[in-house]
Amino acid sequence: MNVVWLDTVDSTNSEALRRLAQLPSGTVLAAREQTAGRGQRGNTWFSEPGKNLTFSMVLKDLAISAPDAPRLNYLTSVAVASYLESRGVKADIKWPNDIYVGGRKICGMLLENTLGPDGRLLASVIGIGINIHQKDFPQLANATSLCLCTGKEYELTAELKAFLDTFEGLLPQLLSEELSAAYSARLFRKDVPARYHDLLTDCEYQGVIEGVEPDGRLHIRSLDGRDCYYRFKEVSYIL
Ligand code: BTN
Repeated sequence: MNVVWLDTVDSTNSEALRRLAQLPSGTVLAAREQTAGRGQRGNTWFSEPGKNLTFSMVLKDLAISAPDAPRLNYLTSVAVASYLESRGVKADIKWPNDIYVGGRKICGMLLENTLGPDGRLLASVIGIGINIHQKDFPQLANATSLCLCTGKEYELTAELKAFLDTFEGLLPQLLSEELSAAYSARLFRKDVPARYHDLLTDCEYQGVIEGVEPDGRLHIRSLDGRDCYYRFKEVSYIL
């Protein structure tokens, strides 16, 4: 992958989308500072300048169709979790793609896909924020960083390279069963009874995460024996 470091940009995802036609597949835009980092659901992603990894990978011509797009979430999530494990930190994936360590969020990702008229994925911009050195999170109650977990200092360019090597190593598994299994095995709260809020019916219940379906839906079995399947934004975890 070809990494381009930017001193300051509004958002690496926005910049990658603006330059999408010109950027070859495999380009990574990494920012030392984002002035308007974007998160899921229209939220802002705050990251102290120079402290963390904030970057977007541009992938094109993946030869996958829209229904397989969740697999890019799986791949990216497993890659981040594996990278953190290589640094001695056990990470869980909070469906669909937040990465948690010990119940605190260490990484978020924002995947923005461009589809062709035939439903094929023309390009994906995979934006990732991994907290590396930040110690205070005034806007967030429940966040952590690699440094808070290990007490060590890191060199950001080397950490980005280590992550990208992990990601590239997993890429051939994009459509494989192994990848789904690796993703499911790392799911936060898998096999553990916990409370969920079904946003479709506005009901809370106790259930157990069983895994993900081939189409990316989360499967929760309620303790009273119902099988519930959710798309993004249809269920929330009661933490
Ligand atoms: C989330 O958990 O809400 C997703 C956060 C995604 C943040 C990353 S930082 C690099 C890239 N550029 C952005 O503007 N957002 C993503």
